Amino acid sequence: MKIELLVRAAVACAVASVVEAATSEQWRSRSIYQVLTDRFARTDGSTTAECNTADVNYCGGTWRGIIGQLDYIQNMGFTAIWISPITYNIPDRTEYGDAYHGYWQQDLYKLNDHFGTAEDLKALSQALHDRDMYLMVDIVTNHNGWPGASSTVDYTRFNPFNDAKYYHPSCSISNYSDQAMVEDCWLGDDKVELPDLRTEDQAVVDGYGAWIGELVANYSIDGLRLDTAKHVAPPFWSSFNAAAGVFCTGEVFSGDPSFTCSYQNALDSVLNYPLYYPIISFLNSSSGTTAPLLTAISDIKSQCKDVSLLGTFSENHDLPRFASMTQDLALAKNALALTLLWDGIPIVYAGQEQHYAGYGDPGNREATWLAAYSRQSELYNLLAAANQVRNRALEIDEGYATYGVDVVYSTQNVLAVRKGSEGKQIVSVFTNAGDSSTPYAVDLANTGWAAGTKVLEVLTCEEVVVADNGALPVSMDAGLPRIYFSSEAASGSGICAGTGTPTETVGGQMPSQTPSVGMVKGRRRMAAAAAGVVA
Ligand SMILES: *[C@@H]1O[C@H](CO)[C@@H](O)[C@H](O)[C@H]1NC(C)=O
Ligand SMILES: *[C@@H]1O[C@H](CO)[C@@H](O)[C@H](O)[C@H]1NC(C)=O
Ligand SMILES: *[C@@H]1O[C@H](CO)[C@@H](O)[C@H](O)[C@H]1NC(C)=O
Repeated sequence: MKIELLVRAAVACAVASVVEAATSEQWRSRSIYQVLTDRFARTDGSTTAECNTADVNYCGGTWRGIIGQLDYIQNMGFTAIWISPITYNIPDRTEYGDAYHGYWQQDLYKLNDHFGTAEDLKALSQALHDRDMYLMVDIVTNHNGWPGASSTVDYTRFNPFNDAKYYHPSCSISNYSDQAMVEDCWLGDDKVELPDLRTEDQAVVDGYGAWIGELVANYSIDGLRLDTAKHVAPPFWSSFNAAAGVFCTGEVFSGDPSFTCSYQNALDSVLNYPLYYPIISFLNSSSGTTAPLLTAISDIKSQCKDVSLLGTFSENHDLPRFASMTQDLALAKNALALTLLWDGIPIVYAGQEQHYAGYGDPGNREATWLAAYSRQSELYNLLAAANQVRNRALEIDEGYATYGVDVVYSTQNVLAVRKGSEGKQIVSVFTNAGDSSTPYAVDLANTGWAAGTKVLEVLTCEEVVVADNGALPVSMDAGLPRIYFSSEAASGSGICAGTGTPTETVGGQMPSQTPSVGMVKGRRRMAAAAAGVVA
């Protein structure tokens, strides 16, 4: 009896010490804005510094710079940010440029001094927490970086794994279907090699475990994004996730749901690549169809352990920007609305709100400051409205996050889904009809609203009434998405309050910024920068 009580007390203690850190349960209702630290904001807030992506050099973004732009992020309704790896990288200029992205690690116990000091990083963490926002940090455990061929690696340069015995022998990944090769061989080539850690060895597991616990504590980190998760075997991830004690989402770069979902048995979450490809193939042109997305819904639901924890995205720093595939703004709006209102934790990559158009690495790593943090952009305002309604649904409906989307209507080119409990649901309608299409109407049955319910379309702030036969009359305007929420659920939340356009009230907390000459100039500059990187 006594022993049992002691054990219980010990368990309670261990649990209590972990509760301070953000859990999966807490992350489920977050919405993440992804920044490449070097490319998001400069310490002085200036928006004129050149940043030519083709130069692959440090452009000057810092942690202090991010602090200066938290209003810009929070005004879009985001409740967390994901930043680049924070550790010290190889200082060398390589044939592939500088380590501005942070993925060529050298010393785990030093910070990347291009981004700031330990005090600066702690200040960023504090500034986020003061706003009830979370800090997610990108973490690399698969490899370190080396500025040359594998035969020239000086292992003593690394800390803490400073001996060849901690690394797999060099070999290149010639067959991505061979998982042992993917895990044990090296990424990179003779210009920049990425020496591959023996993450199956206990000494490496222990070294990383001790490090990540300290790192999370030192900087009050709330969650981790785990780079190249597919290149490390799952048992390592189970240990690492436990040692971190905070929410972890892994980059398993594969569209195959059975493969990618299997990593959720070792990690809290994975980035939803199996959803990304169907989203893009539906929305990147008017000739795509909803079919792959409909298949993905059931595949992901049946294969992944917890869909509500997956990271939902339509762009990131490794993929072609959406606008590099099509300049159609209506399609871009559908892609963003879907990203925010689907199952899982939405992630939007900085610059997506400014319709940046870079194609692939390094072109897709444009400096956000070149758009002068404009709050006038249509996508900025769409994100704000979509985050606002999602945040409201999460606040009033404890079942919202875990309610898996129900398809209420679909054709080849239109998809309507319901998410959320009776009365508090959001019904979204997406289409790939595009900018140049003509307006059309759809009557939606099965939305869950009773006849006579007043429902608000939150992008236009028009109110409609559910018909006697229970159908919601939806009018689609030239390819734009629609987002419906009951007027009663919206009431008092600030949604569509005031002047009748969501632009004025979005995000809630912050007054919207008056447009300035600088912004207008910035938008022009952004358009030029974006045009420059479209292949
Ligand atoms: C690649 O690996 C897979 C899985 O081990 C194997 O079946 C296939 O034959 C390999 N392909 C080549 C070209 O070696
Ligand atoms: C955490 O902070 C302690 C105290 O300053 C320091 O000794 C340790 O190296 C730090 N660990 C990491 C991973 O930053
Ligand atoms: C649109 O998406 C499909 C499917 O992912 C892809 O094959 C195609 O290349 C994309 N279109 C463009 C213009 O990139």
